[in-house]
Amino acid sequence: FISSPLSFHLSEEHLAVQAAARDFARTELLPGVIDRDEHQIFPKEQIRKMGELGFMGMMVSEQYGGGGMDTISYVLAMEEISKIDASASVCMSVNNSLVCWGLENYGTEEQKQKYLTRLATGEIIGAFCLSEPEAGSDATSQRTTAVDMGDYYLLNGTKNWITNGSSASVYLVIAQTYPEKGHRGINALIVERDSPGFEVGKKENKLGIRGSDTHSLMFTDVKVPKENRIGEDGFGFKFAMQTLSGGRIGIASQALGIASGAYELAVEYAKQRQAFGKPIADHQAIQFKLADMATQIEAARLLCLKAAYLKDQHADFARAASMAKLYASQVAMDVTVEAVQVHGGYGYVKEYHVERLMRDAKITQIYEGTSEIQKIVIARDILK
Ligand code: CAA
Ligand code: FAD
Repeated sequence: FISSPLSFHLSEEHLAVQAAARDFARTELLPGVIDRDEHQIFPKEQIRKMGELGFMGMMVSEQYGGGGMDTISYVLAMEEISKIDASASVCMSVNNSLVCWGLENYGTEEQKQKYLTRLATGEIIGAFCLSEPEAGSDATSQRTTAVDMGDYYLLNGTKNWITNGSSASVYLVIAQTYPEKGHRGINALIVERDSPGFEVGKKENKLGIRGSDTHSLMFTDVKVPKENRIGEDGFGFKFAMQTLSGGRIGIASQALGIASGAYELAVEYAKQRQAFGKPIADHQAIQFKLADMATQIEAARLLCLKAAYLKDQHADFARAASMAKLYASQVAMDVTVEAVQVHGGYGYVKEYHVERLMRDAKITQIYEGTSEIQKIVIARDILK
């Protein structure tokens, strides 16, 4: 809100997007969410419908088939989808804020026509491939190589933990071309699913977001045409960092949604569950939990909206995005644990949803930069 009046006004359009996302989550995502979590089933049909409704390319301009919406709309939709199904929302977040945003802002016109137009409508989905077995937080230590062979790059290496790993058709792959140049020698390449030498590895069996398909990916002498490089030669690491700043707003909003979903369930449950002759909501210990949860969620929401606002104003938003992710992910942890507590024993079984939300919350402190990495980003910005 720097150098502009504080405004808490959401437009009619914002409210309509929020209502549409809420309605979709309740009618299309809620049925089957427990089963998908238990059996690790990717919400394929639901993601297809999200594409039809415009949720897979919300911020992409209309000329490329997107919704032409602002980041605030995206935060509102991410919160609503994440209240019900964080496995669907991580797919949505990667496609919107990493893949589509990266391509629209740094891709060539040909790349946008060829890939973005289909990604923005959800006809196909994308994956963002930075992490490796030996390069997670330490993202400049890329071992995957993209050797310049004249009119193509020869790609070799392994990526780890890739969201949408087996469902994607297009992969943005970060790889080292000039090791002697360090992070300034890294490139970002668009790799198509059916490229010879590309292989999808094992699916991870996870604590949470179990409907999301997280895979390792192997590249063996994959030929990637030069025209599939994003940006100038050596721009790949900057591409990844700038794209991730926006991605962190998506994950912060996911954390916010996981927290607010658990909170809403806790409020409802506290009003109807009787103990000692009255609803547990009449016991002050439960009231104080609900008050703390509501306050933390409100603060997290404001941080998410502030980061989104700054991004929409084309202001520097990296610090705000990291703050939103750092704080909202902690809130997701705290609130979901308390929501299970409010539910007592019922909170510990699957039918009541809060145990799943508690398991889903943890990943928001890990991916798109751990909480420790967010603190590094924030501290460096303070001290620069
Ligand atoms: N925007 C633009 N450039 C940036 C930047 C930003 N936000 N942050 C850093 N850079 C640039 C720096 O300016 C520097 O370039 P120059 O030397 O040319 O100026 C270069 O990047 C290297 O920066 P540092 O020296 O600060 O690098 P570092 O090795 O100390 O690490 C880091 C920086 C912030 C820790 C970074 O490595 C990082 O963000 N790590 C976490 C990785 C991450 O978030 N992975 C997420 C994977 S995707 C994912 O997880 C998706 C999902 O789950 C759903
Ligand atoms: P490490 O970097 O080994 O960190 C281990 C611990 O050390 C952490 O607590 C970390 O905070 C701490 N640490 C490391 N360095 C420092 C430091 N300098 N100071 C203080 N503490 C430090 N990646 C992608 O590229 N694309 C994806 O789509 C994707 N999806 C994911 C989905 C899931 C379900 C998971 C689990 C991961 C996903 N990731 C993805 C990878 C994710 O971004 C990394 O796991 C994350 O960045 C951390 O890297 P790491 O696991 O190697 O942990």
